[in-house]
Amino acid sequence: MSTTFTLDTATSRAHPVPEPVRRLTVPGIQKRKGGEPIVMLTAYTARMAQLLDRHCDMLLVGDSLGQVIYGLDTTVKVTLEMMIAHGAAVVRGSYHSVVIVDMPFGSYEGSPEQAFASAARVMKETGAAGVKLEGGAVMAPTVAFLSQRGIPVVGHVGLTPQAVNALGGYGARGRSEAEAAKILEDARAIDAAGAFALVVEGVVEPLARDITAAIACPTIGIGASPACDGQVLVVDDMLGMFERVPRFVERFDELATRIDAAAASYAAAVRERRFPTEKQLYL
Ligand code: KIV
Repeated sequence: MSTTFTLDTATSRAHPVPEPVRRLTVPGIQKRKGGEPIVMLTAYTARMAQLLDRHCDMLLVGDSLGQVIYGLDTTVKVTLEMMIAHGAAVVRGSYHSVVIVDMPFGSYEGSPEQAFASAARVMKETGAAGVKLEGGAVMAPTVAFLSQRGIPVVGHVGLTPQAVNALGGYGARGRSEAEAAKILEDARAIDAAGAFALVVEGVVEPLARDITAAIACPTIGIGASPACDGQVLVVDDMLGMFERVPRFVERFDELATRIDAAAASYAAAVRERRFPTEKQLYL
């Protein structure tokens, strides 16, 4: 599937004329270590990117789209083609945020060369600023390989959802001393390999604090600590689109309830022939 087409901006509702704004940059994000918190949300579509863009510093086209958009049970089934299609849409819908695209399971773990080929496709076909990949010390050579070849990388340690089958679930990590030490070592390795930022997911709070203090690149927490250099949430979680609310999520709206009410109003209007009215007709 080709995703490198250009939209007709004069007629497309999906791509109105952009405001003259400058996109933030990877070095700009790196400089935010210990400074103003970095605001990141996931986005999967052009329209959502348009709505989130001016409020965020970074938009993450997360492989959580497997569950959020495609109804898959885990992120393991997400493909590179899905990530590229949604990554391109989010880049088209944004003008300000640094857009990062997740590398899906199976597209990068085989070797640094495999990771480079997949990441190069992501960069060329989406226009994103960088990629994110999960994993600790074992992925450090891959992070170095990509970073040294012009592909900015965000690391991801702690609870790494692509490893759900090995981890046995989505519980918080770092509760034992040994596990906490391993995750800290993972964070140090990914930082030293050249990642420009690090997502720290689902770890006990003191560990997230320790990681943030121990590494040079900014940490972006999710279920981690307010001491992280930034925060990220899955946008549908924060909007209240799902019934299940993980402990680390705050719902900033109840969109599912409002969509349900809107759909009920529409259905009643159609059934009672109150819609369409004369206003919506070509007379
Ligand atoms: O896939 C995703 O949305 C993520 C975030 C939760 C960090 O990796």
